[in-house]
Amino acid sequence: MKAISKSTKLAHVLYDIRGPIMARAKQMEDEGQKLIKLNIGNLAAFGFDAPEEVQLDMIRNLPNSAGYSDSKGIFAARKAIMHYTQSQGVQGVTLEDIYLGNGASDLIAMATNALLDDGDELLLPAPDYPLWTAVASLSGGRPVHYLCDESKGWIPDLDDIRARITPRTKGIVVINPNNPTGAVYPDHVLRELVAIAREHGLVLLADEVYDKVLYDDVRHTALASLSTDVVTLTFNSLSKSYRACGYRAGWMVVSGDKASARDYIEGLDMLANMKLCANVPGQWAIQTALGGYQSINDLVAEGGRLRQQRDLAYELITAIPGVTCVKPQAALYMFPRLDPEIYPIRDDRQFFLELLEATRVMLVQGTGFNWPSPDHFRIVFLPHESDLREAIGRVAKFLGEYRDRQEAKTRMAGIA
Ligand SMILES: Cc1ncc(COP(=O)(O)O)c(C=O)c1O
Repeated sequence: MKAISKSTKLAHVLYDIRGPIMARAKQMEDEGQKLIKLNIGNLAAFGFDAPEEVQLDMIRNLPNSAGYSDSKGIFAARKAIMHYTQSQGVQGVTLEDIYLGNGASDLIAMATNALLDDGDELLLPAPDYPLWTAVASLSGGRPVHYLCDESKGWIPDLDDIRARITPRTKGIVVINPNNPTGAVYPDHVLRELVAIAREHGLVLLADEVYDKVLYDDVRHTALASLSTDVVTLTFNSLSKSYRACGYRAGWMVVSGDKASARDYIEGLDMLANMKLCANVPGQWAIQTALGGYQSINDLVAEGGRLRQQRDLAYELITAIPGVTCVKPQAALYMFPRLDPEIYPIRDDRQFFLELLEATRVMLVQGTGFNWPSPDHFRIVFLPHESDLREAIGRVAKFLGEYRDRQEAKTRMAGIA
C-alpha cells in the first residue's frame, strides 16, 4: 500500500510539551505506573477549580448555545472584553475589534495565517511558548528567535531584536507575562518594543494570557496601552486566570492604527467567518469571569496556594547543586538552568526521557521551548506542596546520581 505521509509544512513544527516524552509517559501509565506530571499548565487537573459563578452562568446559558453565534462572538462577551480592555488603558477599541476563539491558541493561529506570506519572518522570543513558533512555520512564515536575557531576569534583548529585523520581518511576538520563564517585562522595555515596531512598521502580537497570575505585587502593563498607532493584537483567555482551559474561551483584540491595517483586518475577518464561530458555551462564561470578584487574586496573594507553591518549588529547585533559576514573578512555571560544567548534557530531550523513566516525574526540556542550548528545563508548580516536594526530591536524587557518575568519569580519566 502507498504510504501516507504528513505534510512537509510540519517539518519545522515542534511541540514537545505534548511530544515524545508525553508519548513515553502515556506508555508508562498504560503499564500502571503513577506519574507526577510537571509538564503542562492545566490548572483544573491539580484541583484549581474554575469560579463557581462562571460555571453556573455557562450552565444557565447552555440552552441558548446550540446555534452558531456571530463569527466574532456573542455581544455580551465582546462587550465585557471591551470594558476590560478600556480598564487596562487601551484606547479606541470597539466591538468590531474583538474576536472570540477556541482559546487563545485558535486566534494565535488565525493571526499568523492572516499575516504571513511564504518566507515572511516573525520575531519570537527564545525561550518561547512553542505554539507560536509552530504556527508561524505552519503559516508558511519563518520563525526568527530573539533572545531573552537570563542575566537580566529574562527580559527581551532589544539589540538582538533590532539585529534580526530584515525587509521580510512582519511582526514581533511578545509573551508577557512569560511562559516558560515567569518574567514580567518592565514598562521601559515594552516602550522600546513599541518604538521598534513603529520604526519598522511591524505588527505587535501580545500574548497576555497570564496577565492576572502575578506574584509579589508586580504590575502588568498591557502592551496595547502604550500606543495608539502601532497595530497591536492582544491575546487572552479564560484558561489561566480563570482556571478554565477546557472551556476553550479565548479572545483577540486589535488596536492601534486600524486604517493602516485594513487589508490585514479583512484577512482576519475572512478567517473568522470561515470557522463560523468559537465554542458557544465557553463564550457565555466570559462576561461573568471578567466582572466582579476576581478569585485569582487570592491564589497569588501572600499565603495563596499558587504563591506558596511557587515559593516552595523555587526553594527546592535552587537548593540542588548546579541548578540556578530566576524567580518567576508571574504565571505557573520556572525555567531553571543546569550548569553545563556540572551537567554536560548533549541531548536534553533524551536526558529528560531518562529522568522520566527513572523518577516517574515528567518535565519538558528547554529545547522544547526553542531555547538554543540543552541546559534548561521547565517545571510547572501546580501540584500540591506534598507532591511538589516528592517530585523535586526525586529530580534532586536523579541529578545527584548523574553528578556522581560524572565525578567517577572525571576520576577515571585522571587515572588514565
Ligand atoms: C503563553 C501562552 N499562550 C497561549 C496559551 C494557550 O492558551 P489557550 O488555552 O487560551 O489556548 C498558553 C497555554 O499554556 C500559553 O502558555
